[in-house]
Amino acid sequence: MRRLLDVVVLISGRGSNLQSIIDQTRTGALPIQIRAVVSNRADAYGLVRAQAAGVPTRVLDHRQFPSRGQFDQALMALIDEYSPQLVVLAGFMRILGRDFVEHYAGRLMNIHPSLLPAFPGLHTHERALESGVAQHGASVHFVTPDLDGGPIIVQAEVPVLAGDTPDRLAERVLKEEHRIFPLAIRWFAEGRLQVRAGQVLLDGEVRAEQGLVARPVVATPTSTPGAAQQRE
Ligand code: GRF
Repeated sequence: MRRLLDVVVLISGRGSNLQSIIDQTRTGALPIQIRAVVSNRADAYGLVRAQAAGVPTRVLDHRQFPSRGQFDQALMALIDEYSPQLVVLAGFMRILGRDFVEHYAGRLMNIHPSLLPAFPGLHTHERALESGVAQHGASVHFVTPDLDGGPIIVQAEVPVLAGDTPDRLAERVLKEEHRIFPLAIRWFAEGRLQVRAGQVLLDGEVRAEQGLVARPVVATPTSTPGAAQQRE
C-alpha cells in the first residue's frame, strides 16, 4: 500500500477548497491523509464539511490570545500533535508570524486568489477589476515570511470578461482554485517539488503545467467546451 502523506488543513470559513481536497482524497487521486482540520473560528462551515467526511476538527479562537505570537505558538503546538508532513492554508484568514512560518518551512502551502505577484493581500477581485487587467486567476505557493510572496507552485489564469462583477469573477477563479490546489498537494505528496533559488521546480524543472491556463467557463460563441480540461 502507498504511504499516505499526513496533512493538517487550516481554515477560517466556507471551506470549499477543503472540500475539493477531501473529494480528491476520497477518490484516491490525492495520496494524503487529512489528519485534522483546524479553524480559528468555531462557526466556519468548513468544520461541518470535515466532520461529514470523518476528519477530526479542532478550533483555536485567536481572540482568546493576548498576542499574535501567543496564538501562533498555541497553533503550532496543536498542529504538531498530528506530526504533519504538510500544512495547508485553505482560506485561513490570519497572518502567521515568522516563527510559525519558519517552523513549517518547505511544508506550508497557501492558495491565493490572484496571479501573484499581482494583488497580494485582500479584496483581490475588486482590485483586479479596478485596475483593468485582462487576466486574473489563482496561485498556490509555499509560504514564507513575505506575505503572499513565497515561491509559486502553480497558477491558473482566468480571463476578465466584459461586465464582470467581483462576485462573478470570484466564482470563476474559485473553480480554478479547486483544480490547482489538489494538484499542487498531489505533486508535493509525490515528492516532485523542489525549491531552488526561490523558484519551484516540478520534476527538476520549471514546467508548463505550473502555469495552467483556464479558458472562460461561461459559454461564449467562440468557446470550446472542455477546453480548460484539455490543458491539464
Ligand atoms: C479562497 O478564495 C482562497 O483563495 C482565499 O480564501 C478563499 C477561501 O475560500 N485564501 P474557501 O473557504 O476555500 O471556500
